[in-house]
Amino acid sequence: MPYAGLNDLGGGESRAETDRTGRSTVGSASRGRVEEGQDGGMTWFDSPSDATARLEAAGYLPDAATATTTYLAGALEKPLLLEGPAGVGKTELAKAVARATGAELVRLQCYEGLDEARALYEWNYKKQLLRIQAANAAGSDTDWSATHDDIFTEEFLLTRPLLTAIRREEPTVLLIDEVDKTDIEVEGLLLEVLSDFQVTIPELGTVAATRRPLVVLTSNASRELSEAVKRRCLYLHLDYPDAAREREILQQQVPGLDDRVAEQVVATVGRMRELELKKAPSIAESVDWARTLIALEIRDLDAKAVHDTLGAVLKHRSDHERAVKELKLARS
Ligand SMILES: Nc1ncnc2c1ncn2[C@@H]1O[C@H](COP(=O)(O)OP(=O)(O)OP(=O)(O)O)[C@@H](O)[C@H]1O
Ligand SMILES: [Mg+2]
Repeated sequence: MPYAGLNDLGGGESRAETDRTGRSTVGSASRGRVEEGQDGGMTWFDSPSDATARLEAAGYLPDAATATTTYLAGALEKPLLLEGPAGVGKTELAKAVARATGAELVRLQCYEGLDEARALYEWNYKKQLLRIQAANAAGSDTDWSATHDDIFTEEFLLTRPLLTAIRREEPTVLLIDEVDKTDIEVEGLLLEVLSDFQVTIPELGTVAATRRPLVVLTSNASRELSEAVKRRCLYLHLDYPDAAREREILQQQVPGLDDRVAEQVVATVGRMRELELKKAPSIAESVDWARTLIALEIRDLDAKAVHDTLGAVLKHRSDHERAVKELKLARS
């Protein structure tokens, strides 16, 4: 039996991006771009090309597969599982979808040891205890079952990101970030949310979403996710972009970047990715590198300039040594 009452409550908690402790941290401004479909459902994007245009306007440059899959995630109301190496824009895509559609971003940051109390909800034990003590102090005519019924109500419920997202009545992007960092048991928790868009609280009943959030899961593939989770999602593998797209991303994110330097950064990063490194440079590192070059007013990325600024792009000593050797970089 759906517990409709919960959906009417708790508006204050809903503007939440939530950090690893489950606290609310950020809310993004809603511009109300998600439109009501004919059947009362949501239209996130009108078409793949609409997704491309609106994501670009929100500062994210998707390739064709990314735009199409993002469009489908909205149209089919299916969670989107993004897998790929670090720094290729998985988390950023979820944030960009929220910006592009004017939806709020609710974020569940996954980590080892994440549990139901941090992901779904927990009871406010301190407040419950105070209520019990107050009831006891009020006299012996307050019986236990009345107190029990009283302390398992909305007033004593602390909502965490999954429940927050399910309860929201406004358009919501639910980002379940780095899902491969959790223990496999947590995936069990996610299944009810991912397939039925509902959460069951034994004491209160089932909270069903009145408005389905667009769910984005990200993973570095440090472990295989369960087939049960994969089955419920659309899958997109995000990889390093081609040179032209990476140049566009740099030019968009690093104002004042010279065309020639952008080209040199992308070409050098491309060569580094072909080396066997501990950690290949990602888009995030290309952006950092371009910013470093601007700060140092370097207008030509010659071997010495690469050598001097390598710390912006490679983060392991052994990778530095390999790059210096293989790319034949000059010492300062
Ligand atoms: N298609 C893109 N358009 C614009 N910026 C991008 C794009 N892809 C990546 N970026 C940039 O790369 C940076 C890193 O992306 P992000 O943090 O989303 O990586 P990630 O895949 O989530 O990495 P990790 O697995 O380490 O969490 C972003 O801040 C963004 O600036
Ligand atoms: Mg990320």
